[in-house]
Amino acid sequence: MVNSDSTMKTSTTERHSDFLKSLVEFTKDHRAARWSGTLSEFLDGVFRADPKGIVRSSHQYIWDMLRANGFDDGFAGGSSGSGKFRCQLFEDELFGIDETIGRVIDYFKAASAGSEVGRRLLLLLGPPSGGKSSMVILLKRGLEAYSQTEAGALYAIKGCPVHESPLHLVPHTLRPQFRQTYGVEITGELCPYCSSRLQHELSGDFMQMPVERIFISEAGRVGVGTYAPHDPTTADIADLVGSVDLSKVSEFGDEGDPRAWSWSGAVFAASRGCLEMIEILKVKREFLYLLLTLTQEKNVKVSRFPLIHIDESIVAHTNFAEFRKFLQEPENEALLDRMVIIQVPYTLDYKEEARIYRKLCSSTQAFREVHLDPHALHVAAVYAVLSRVGEAEERDADNVKKVRVYAGEDVEGVAPGDAAKMRAKNPDEGLSGVSPRFVINALSNAIIQSQAKSLTTMDVLIALKDAIESDVRIDGKKKRKWVDFLVAVRKDFYNRWVKEDVHKALFVSFEQEAQQLLDKYIDEVEATLDNRTLRDPITSEERKPDERFLRSVEEKIRISESGKLSFRQEVVRKAMGAYKRGEKFTLDSHAPLHDAVEQYLFESRRDVLRLVSSAARPDDETRQKISVVEKRLVDEYGYDPHSAREALNYVTTLLAQE
Ligand SMILES: Nc1ncnc2c1ncn2[C@@H]1O[C@H](COP(=O)(O)OP(=O)(O)OP(=O)(O)O)[C@@H](O)[C@H]1O
Ligand SMILES: [Mg+2]
Ligand SMILES: [Zn+2]
Repeated sequence: MVNSDSTMKTSTTERHSDFLKSLVEFTKDHRAARWSGTLSEFLDGVFRADPKGIVRSSHQYIWDMLRANGFDDGFAGGSSGSGKFRCQLFEDELFGIDETIGRVIDYFKAASAGSEVGRRLLLLLGPPSGGKSSMVILLKRGLEAYSQTEAGALYAIKGCPVHESPLHLVPHTLRPQFRQTYGVEITGELCPYCSSRLQHELSGDFMQMPVERIFISEAGRVGVGTYAPHDPTTADIADLVGSVDLSKVSEFGDEGDPRAWSWSGAVFAASRGCLEMIEILKVKREFLYLLLTLTQEKNVKVSRFPLIHIDESIVAHTNFAEFRKFLQEPENEALLDRMVIIQVPYTLDYKEEARIYRKLCSSTQAFREVHLDPHALHVAAVYAVLSRVGEAEERDADNVKKVRVYAGEDVEGVAPGDAAKMRAKNPDEGLSGVSPRFVINALSNAIIQSQAKSLTTMDVLIALKDAIESDVRIDGKKKRKWVDFLVAVRKDFYNRWVKEDVHKALFVSFEQEAQQLLDKYIDEVEATLDNRTLRDPITSEERKPDERFLRSVEEKIRISESGKLSFRQEVVRKAMGAYKRGEKFTLDSHAPLHDAVEQYLFESRRDVLRLVSSAARPDDETRQKISVVEKRLVDEYGYDPHSAREALNYVTTLLAQE
């Protein structure tokens, strides 16, 4: 007791000092070189060192940021790499939507190369809580971090409300010469605010204009802007582009003076970086035109000022309900032409879906204190995916098969390339169905209501059923269908998984015993095929191969008397192949034998499970046998004592029904 107490104390102290260390590292990493000077100093030093880097557009900047976080997938495994570009930014945050992420990355790549798509607004379209906002947040965080690095150094006119490039100060008449000298082009005009300052404060001496390095920061309103529509009746274009600042009008004496304009507004904040438009189709059409012009022409018209040049990438998102409503108005069609739409569907891989839940669970205190049995999240995830593929009204068996194929499992009669074909047949899969939020809410309710510290898969199934039945947004027909999916999840997934756990826990070391059995099977088969005898290791007597044993293994997977010879020949061929390659022939090398061996072993231990239900008052020996199995479930298979007991009881009932 004393011991564990003090270990705990040390580890808290350690964690505390680790945290402090990380804080120091963080500030060190983030104390990126600041720089400030005049335009003349800027051109002479900073610019000359890297003209190309300095003239980057916002799209090029974002693409460079993505590239700086990029890696070639496949490197990790030591293989040659698939050559597929992946971005670390999204790796531990977004699961199962790699294809979508790839499309977003491709958008920036193309836009950066000067393609027409850069002149269109990027719209992420997907079902609710499908990760759209998360994706944009990650982009924004990525930009903030990148601007702290050397490669991501960004410079602006000091005090400029749109943090514009200092190169805008170079007069048009000198720009051709500039291009000849440095080989790069300047795009963009000085903003009204800076040109006014230039005249009033520096009498036009632009070389003296102050320049500084800037760091992208959403909180600081630099390079990141976010706009969320509120009540459309009060929404004002000022939220995007600012308004007259009455307090300053008296100072400058003129409402039209750019210095008397309040340059608040998301569009200005986002200049040089990224503007996020939440629920973009909810905004007034007036806003939409402004944004589309901004992407297309890189300028906005504000009040009495001339056009203001602004370079930023707009990433907007919306869900299908809004999108359909938007499509109903014919005049909106032309607007859609000026957008690049990328769909963000739910993942169809239940293992990835479960990772989402795990991430969300580990971020709340209430969840962290609760033990979930090893299949609880997977079962919820299978259910969610079933609801997403099940819209197509296919037979249950087909849907179940599909869920397994999409998760990359070996399914009999399905070739490896078939997943893509199945997917292509139903392009709408993943655009509707149960959302991650629905599942998480159901789990939260289960935890709050039961106040239990241990949640089993059955608890989760019941919680999901309650959530479906009490949801007023779902109609009766759909409710029945969704409840049917729960039945399928239990029958076709959970029962299989939990039985396997319990069966394995009946053995001291299941893997080892299974391998021994497999080795014995191969030895006996080889002997029969070669017409050899075998020597008994103890008595040293020669004996014939054990045909009864061979058949009892083979019967587990329904190998008939007439089919046994070809089955055995095939097994031996595979075993020889493995042997020649210097590999061990294991259960994983042969799927049918895997099943056969497992079942053979399980049959031999079923008695223990019968004890669980038979003895109303188990004697000590029985209790002892059962508790050993429970303990293994806890130690090796991820259960806690409560869920282990539940699993054992559950499997016992299942067996009784067989
Ligand atoms: N594929 C995914 N990988 C990881 N987390 C995900 C994924 N999809 C959704 N989530 C999580 O689900 C929650 C909701 O996602 P998010 O808010 O990004 O969705 P959204 O598409 O913006 O939804 P809405 O249309 O309701 O605004 C977030 O906590 C997010 O992290
Ligand atoms: Mg969102
Ligand atoms: Zn300016």
